[in-house]
Amino acid sequence: MTDPELRVSKIEDGTVIDHISGGQALNVLAILGIDGSGGVAVSVGINVPSDRLGGKDIVKVEGRELSQNEVDVLSLIAPAATINIIRDFEVAEKHRVSRPGEVTGVLSCPNANCITTEAEPIDSHFEVLGEGVRCRYCDTIIRESIADHISVA
Ligand SMILES: Nc1ncnc2c1ncn2[C@@H]1O[C@H](COP(=O)(O)OP(=O)(O)OP(=O)(O)O)[C@@H](O)[C@H]1O
Ligand SMILES: [Mg+2]
Ligand SMILES: [Zn+2]
Repeated sequence: MTDPELRVSKIEDGTVIDHISGGQALNVLAILGIDGSGGVAVSVGINVPSDRLGGKDIVKVEGRELSQNEVDVLSLIAPAATINIIRDFEVAEKHRVSRPGEVTGVLSCPNANCITTEAEPIDSHFEVLGEGVRCRYCDTIIRESIADHISVA
């Protein structure tokens, strides 16, 4: 096999998330809620050689497309990512991610008293700042390690 990005067999339908910042692949899986239990077939490449990025990670998910909320949070930890929609073994669509103005769901507020983390939680909602994100309900700012605040489904 000559293409180093195709170490595993091609997928028929699904999503290839390419050009993920090195080391972020497992966080991308967390954003997608993939923990190995759902029966979804996933291949992960970590530190794959890349001309453009030096080293990159790549995640291939079979039979699944991403929601806009997932793509929005993904863009915060992997700003150079490319989302390739695979249909019938070919790249049918390719999208670059862009930094959104706000993100809904996926992240959870670190403030235990926040209305979004109480007994009957409502969806989290963060405003995206130049660096980090700010909870719309309690103004708590997550500045670093955004991936540590991905909510577990
Ligand atoms: N059927 C498939 N199954 C699994 N992976 C695939 C499939 N088709 C393409 N890919 C992978 O999806 C990514 C995008 O494919 P593409 O053919 O557009 O590559 P590319 O020209 O290098 O794209 P880019 O310019 O975005 O780097 C590559 O990592 C490629 O290996
Ligand atoms: Mg490429
Ligand atoms: Zn909050």
